[in-house]
Amino acid sequence: MGSAREVVSVSEAWVFFILAISIFDNTKLAAGNDHQHSGRKLSDGTPGFITLDCGLPANSSYTEKTSGINYISDATFIDTGLSRSISPEIKDTKKRYLWHLRSFPEGIRNCYTINNITGGSKYLIRAVFFYGNYDSEDKLPEFDLHLGANMWDTVKFSVAAKGEVWKELIHVPSLNYIHVCLVNKNLGTPFISTLELRELNSDTYKTTSGSLALRQRYDFGNTDQFYRYDDDVYDRLWWPYNTRAWTELSTNLTIEPQDYNNYTAPSIVMSTAVTPKDDSAPIELSWEKEDDESGYYLYMHFAEILKLEANQSRSFNITFNGKYWIGPLVPKYLSENTIFTQSALTGGKYAFSLLKTEGSTLPPIINALELYSVRYFSQSETQEEDVDAITKIKSVYRIKRNWQGDPCAPKEYFWEGLNCSYDDSNPPRIISLNLSSSGLTGAISADISNLMMLQILDLSNNSLNGSVLYSLSQLPHLRVLNLERNQLAGSIPIQLIERSNDRSLSLSVGDNPNLCGAASCKKKNNIIVPILASVVGLLMLSLICAVVLWGLRRRKKQTASAYTKSNIQHVSLESIQRQFTYSELPRITNNFSRILGKGGFGTVYHGCIDDTQVAVKMLSQSSVQGYQQYQSEVKLLMRVHHRNLTTLVGYCCEGTNMGLIYEYMAKGDLEAHLSDDEKANILTWEQRLLIATDAAQGLEYLHHGCKPPIVHRDVKCTNILLNETLQAKLADFGMSKIFPTDCGSHVTTVVAGTPGYVDPEYYISNRLTEKTDVYSFGVVLLKIITGRPAIERTHDMTHISQWVSSILSKGDIRNIVDPRMPRNLDFNSVWKAVEIAMLCVSTTSARRPNMSQVVVELKECLETEIDPIEMVNMDLKTEVNPIAR
Ligand SMILES: *[C@@H]1O[C@H](CO)[C@@H](O)[C@H](O)[C@H]1NC(C)=O
Repeated sequence: MGSAREVVSVSEAWVFFILAISIFDNTKLAAGNDHQHSGRKLSDGTPGFITLDCGLPANSSYTEKTSGINYISDATFIDTGLSRSISPEIKDTKKRYLWHLRSFPEGIRNCYTINNITGGSKYLIRAVFFYGNYDSEDKLPEFDLHLGANMWDTVKFSVAAKGEVWKELIHVPSLNYIHVCLVNKNLGTPFISTLELRELNSDTYKTTSGSLALRQRYDFGNTDQFYRYDDDVYDRLWWPYNTRAWTELSTNLTIEPQDYNNYTAPSIVMSTAVTPKDDSAPIELSWEKEDDESGYYLYMHFAEILKLEANQSRSFNITFNGKYWIGPLVPKYLSENTIFTQSALTGGKYAFSLLKTEGSTLPPIINALELYSVRYFSQSETQEEDVDAITKIKSVYRIKRNWQGDPCAPKEYFWEGLNCSYDDSNPPRIISLNLSSSGLTGAISADISNLMMLQILDLSNNSLNGSVLYSLSQLPHLRVLNLERNQLAGSIPIQLIERSNDRSLSLSVGDNPNLCGAASCKKKNNIIVPILASVVGLLMLSLICAVVLWGLRRRKKQTASAYTKSNIQHVSLESIQRQFTYSELPRITNNFSRILGKGGFGTVYHGCIDDTQVAVKMLSQSSVQGYQQYQSEVKLLMRVHHRNLTTLVGYCCEGTNMGLIYEYMAKGDLEAHLSDDEKANILTWEQRLLIATDAAQGLEYLHHGCKPPIVHRDVKCTNILLNETLQAKLADFGMSKIFPTDCGSHVTTVVAGTPGYVDPEYYISNRLTEKTDVYSFGVVLLKIITGRPAIERTHDMTHISQWVSSILSKGDIRNIVDPRMPRNLDFNSVWKAVEIAMLCVSTTSARRPNMSQVVVELKECLETEIDPIEMVNMDLKTEVNPIAR
């Protein structure tokens, strides 16, 4: 991979793919073409289409005359909302699908659930909104549109567009359903007019990552109406477009897609085109980046529609931001050819020019264009099994709460009565269900015990009858079970009582007149009832058992406490998490024989617990705070889990012997890697970017994922550790809490940070904030890029940021990067990384980005970095030539 990237240069940073003929592809794609033809013939039906006319009365449907599309009522796809109609005066001027709408005066988030789609297939999802003064208030609302757990777009109306908005998304759902949600932002009542899904050909509109939100789809040279199905098999909408600088061209003949062009823009769209009025002028296409947009995919459709004379020719090149992009292109007569970007275009400026080549007698043409912005739907939806279970629970108990869309995601809108676990690498899981006082009747649903991650279950104060399900005792993480004040009968499963005995479960069963204790229940015998009438009674009973079984249970107890953790990624580590006595440490560390490192807080030793390697850090004793506080801070830190933070698995605290036990990081620290001159060990640019992103994510988690935020205070390359696969994790976080400096009476601090990394503003203000870490991270990033020390060891002690800005002012980024790295880097991503780093080391903290912004930017760097690899594999020259013929 590394070597492939080396041949990429800056000017080639965009990837193109032209649909040209190659023998191999031809045979492969011919089949796909047949399929399309059969699709085209199905004019009586609409294969792969789901078309909802929102607000249309339940059970009704109609076929729209102009398109032949069948619209059905949305009533079975949503539980909430009101069916409304647009103002009668304007009805006649509007297509029938805009007459009705569904409005949502109640609830913050209302969702459609569309089932029976094919997960993994590509869909065009379209939502249409037409206000039409349906509420006679003449006031346009604004609200958000979500797709599942993620923001899709904001719906904002303009008077110019006459209160009509169309949103389109090309997206590959991962599951067999999608949720489309409208979210009230207190700017008026959300509503929707139609919701449509069209299955697309999976070979089209590919992205390296993310989905495509339509910005523009233009039918050039057409001046009046828009086209859709059944001119377009995929029911894309093509809007007419022309400007005064262009002349329209058109033909009556049919235009076919070139042999295996799967985009198949409709013939009627392709049969019109534009060309500059001024013969020598280019066709210029440009757009501006909008705030919420991060990258673009562009599709241009070309076909020659004039029969050229022998002495005529049309050929042109395309430039992007003034640089050669592709060409020469010679559109084929009556044959559609599509040119598109293979990876996202990023940057601040987007200007394309179609320029006539020297030999060409005719100016360039263009027939149609599509522009999409990339949307990253990165927040995952709740684990499917949990969704299935909770959906069944909802229907069994006919729960009337506003339970819509995804149960846990996005975080801000999880269902009332639920709690979920969220971590970066796994889908959310339901960990708590509270249906207390919800009027539940009938038996305890077995679906509840399918919520495998459940820790807390509260079903108190309902009218549940039947027995306490054995399967509840099989929920491995359950630690609170409240069944008080119901009509439950029979005996409580012994396993639940056992868990209550060893205190891994808090069990409450009082006020269930017919419920009795484990196994020993005698039918309708009221004598036992008083014992169980209160939790206290039950616990007393438990206590006796507990004493008897004490010895046997010790092992179990440990496992049970490990269960209560929501993050169970590091099973082997979790199982050893605990407090150690000082006398155990010599055995663990083999008498402190192997030192891994020495730092401000003490010495780190290699150790082994069972078969797991660990790092044991013995804290220097001088200024650790009081025992109580140390212990509570450590316990807190043990709950901080993130893939980019070294896991604290245990601790020791006896008098002045204070130690912390961490997971072992096999590849040592980043500093050592950056200063390693061994050729095989020199980190590539991509590895460096990945490490920087990892570290940034760890820091982001400390700042934004922990409450209260944790300021690291000593971010530096020696505190970034690497595991076997070079995944980076931040070490030593939370030390600022164990060694507090700003609240104690000591003015001098044990750790004032490391020279070169310390925020200059912190020196002056002595106030520790997240931005202090951002500064240090900026220094880390500069070191990663340049491979130079934070402070030059020469007499003038130049700081790395000063050095970088002096080189930048001379304008050559090539002299900034670590000279040991391979030379043919993608300098786009280097530029970006330098920009991020320089912002982080701004002297005023207000100008520094926060870590979330840094993470986003670094990820973009990674993307531009990774994309060009594909380009190298595609020989641009040979792809272009067949068209030039
Ligand atoms: C469940 O909800 C009720 C009412 O909101 C509350 O009183 C109770 O404490 C909750 N139960 C748990 C276990 O949090």
